[in-house]
Amino acid sequence: MIVLGIETSCDETSAAVVDGEGRVLSNVVSSQMRAHAPYGGVVPEVAARAHLENLPAVLDAALERAGKRLEDAELVAATAGPGLIGALLVGLSAGRGLAFARGLPLVGVNHLEGHLFSAFLRPGGEPARPLALPFHGLVVSGGHAELVRVEEGGRIVPLARTRDDAPGEAFDKIARRAGLGYPGGPVVDRIAQRGRGDRFPFAIGRSGDGSLDFSFSGLKTAMLRELERRGIDGSPLDPERLDPELVDLLASFQRAIVAALLDRVERVHAAEGMQTLAISGGVAANTELRATLSAWGGEHGVAVLLPDRSFTTDNAAMIAWAGLLAARRGAPTDPAAAAARSRWPLGT
Ligand code: KG4
Ligand code: ZN
Repeated sequence: MIVLGIETSCDETSAAVVDGEGRVLSNVVSSQMRAHAPYGGVVPEVAARAHLENLPAVLDAALERAGKRLEDAELVAATAGPGLIGALLVGLSAGRGLAFARGLPLVGVNHLEGHLFSAFLRPGGEPARPLALPFHGLVVSGGHAELVRVEEGGRIVPLARTRDDAPGEAFDKIARRAGLGYPGGPVVDRIAQRGRGDRFPFAIGRSGDGSLDFSFSGLKTAMLRELERRGIDGSPLDPERLDPELVDLLASFQRAIVAALLDRVERVHAAEGMQTLAISGGVAANTELRATLSAWGGEHGVAVLLPDRSFTTDNAAMIAWAGLLAARRGAPTDPAAAAARSRWPLGT
């Protein structure tokens, strides 16, 4: 089985070829980061236009690197949501066009489901790890924070999600205000490695009603106030030559995000016992998050799966893989029926 994956939900244009055992034969990602950097965030119109310009070459490159031709594809998997509607339409329409032209089935993939199963993919052309059902999944990205349980039959049960900002969004907003550019996660990650994360203890947001939902806006506001008090106003700063106190402040901010995520993981483990925890999404590239959750898993007998960094941020390999799994579970594969949707909660 040869699956052609397409991802255009946000600011990465990506195409990939994955086989029936989950071997990633190619995974081409063209980042639009530079187009959006001057605005400090993703501009939807700019994103849609760039996808339109980049996708044909990205598709060609994915097939070529995999040593395959379009005629070899047996299933098309394209992200159908959630995401920027104009951006989604570009990739999904391209996928539908290819499917119609070649008479192939097409699965409209939930982007979050793509992240969720990405922790099972392996780099270097290795087959995917066996799906250890049931498992728990933590998807942490620029748009989402979701903790779910994936049951035996593949049903996804949401346990917690963010009520306001996503963790990646908090990283991005703080980095922008600190004059450190976009995206914020990788730069804060690097700076925090030389800082003291215990110097400025921030509170972990917990809701009064006992819900497991995440909230990062309180932390973001507290951090913005700390920056303001120090006269930091967004003027560009050199990440290599920061005031040591700012370095510690950023490390403490990152520590608070990791602590909030660990808090919910611990509470779910206490309530229903985890065997496997698959972590995914752009924020799953974070060094401290990876180290903290791996250590926690080691102490509690939970197998913590961390995707290779190439599968953490948006990519089409995860879409091809999730699309194939969805098709095997009986998801609709009529290209005429696939529709883009900006909102699409996991498990619906
Ligand atoms: O999954 P992704 O590519 O896009 C969404 O679906 O949102 O995630 C992008 C997010 C950005 O907010 C970026 O700042 C964050 O992932 N990110 C990180 C790191 N690398 C990327 N956050 C923390 N630490 C990192 N190393
Ligand atoms: Zn994503």
